[in-house]
Amino acid sequence: MSLEGRTAIVTGAGSGIGRACARRLAAEGAHVVVADINAEAAGEVAAEIGGTPVAVDLSDPEFLVAWRGQLPPSPDTRLHADIVVNNAGFQHVAPIEEFPPEVFSKIMRVMVEAPFLLARAVLPGMYERGWGRIVNISSVHGLRASPFKSAYVTAKHALEGLSKVIALEGAPHGVTSNCVNPAYVRTPLVENQIADQARTHGIGEDEVVEQIMLAPAAIKRLIEPDEVAAMVAYLCGPQGSFVTGASIPIDGGWSAR
Ligand SMILES: NC(=O)c1ccc[n+]([C@@H]2O[C@H](COP(=O)([O-])OP(=O)(O)OC[C@H]3O[C@@H](n4cnc5c(N)ncnc54)[C@H](O)[C@@H]3O)[C@@H](O)[C@H]2O)c1
Repeated sequence: MSLEGRTAIVTGAGSGIGRACARRLAAEGAHVVVADINAEAAGEVAAEIGGTPVAVDLSDPEFLVAWRGQLPPSPDTRLHADIVVNNAGFQHVAPIEEFPPEVFSKIMRVMVEAPFLLARAVLPGMYERGWGRIVNISSVHGLRASPFKSAYVTAKHALEGLSKVIALEGAPHGVTSNCVNPAYVRTPLVENQIADQARTHGIGEDEVVEQIMLAPAAIKRLIEPDEVAAMVAYLCGPQGSFVTGASIPIDGGWSAR
C-alpha cells in the first residue's frame, strides 16, 4: 500500500489502460479520481474502487470548469492531486490527404492540451507539498511513426516533450514526470483500430494483427492493460523516485529496431 493517503487523477479511466491504472493505484492505497467523457463508465469504475467519478470532455478547452463543478465545494479553486495519469486518448486512421482537420485538432486537444491544462492546475499544489507524480501514457508512437496516424503520432511526440519539460521544472519540487510507451495493448481502442486498419489496407482483421500490428515487435503478442498499470504503479511508488524525464517502452522490442 505504497500510495496510502495519495490522491490520483486518472483520465480516460472508464476503459482499457486507464481503468487498469485506476484499479492498480487504488489497490496501492490511493484515492482515485476517475475522469472520463463516458459518465456511466466513470461511475462504474469509481464505485468499484471507492473513487470519485468526474464526467468531462477533455476536448473542451473549458473542461476544468465542468470538473470543479463536480467536486465538493472548497475554498481552494485549484485541482488537488498527488498523481496524475494522463491517459485519455483516441485514434483516427487515414492518409494525411484525407485526414479531417477537425479530428486532427481534437486529438491534439485531448492528448496534448488537456495534459498541459491538468499539469497547470495541479502542479502548484504538488510544489507546495513537495511531492508529485505525472505519468503520461504515450505510446511506441511517441518514439516511432507509422503511416496513416498523423494526428496520433504528432500528439504522442508532443506529449513526450511536455513530459520532459514538466520533469525539468518539477524536479526541485519533488515532482517527477515520465512517459510510458506501450505497443499494442488489448483494449477497445485497439479492437476498433483492427477494424479500421482492415478497411484502410483492404485486408482481413487477422492479417492486420499478424502482418501490421505485430510486424515491428520482437515479441508477437498484444500487451495486457495490467502490464501497463504495473509500470505506472512503479513510477508512482517509492522505487520510481529517481526516474524522471524518461520514456519507458513496453513494446516487445519494437523500438530496438
Ligand atoms: N491500446 C493500445 O494499444 C495503446 C497503445 C499505446 C498507447 N495507448 C494509449 O493509451 C491510452 C488509453 O487507450 P486505451 O487503449 O485504454 O483506449 P480505450 O478506448 O479503451 O480508453 C480510452 C478512454 O478515454 C476516454 N476518452 C476518450 N476521449 C475522451 C475525452 N474527450 N474526454 C475524456 N475522456 C475521453 C474514453 O471514453 C475511454 O474510456 C490512450 O492515450 C492511447 O493512446 C494505447
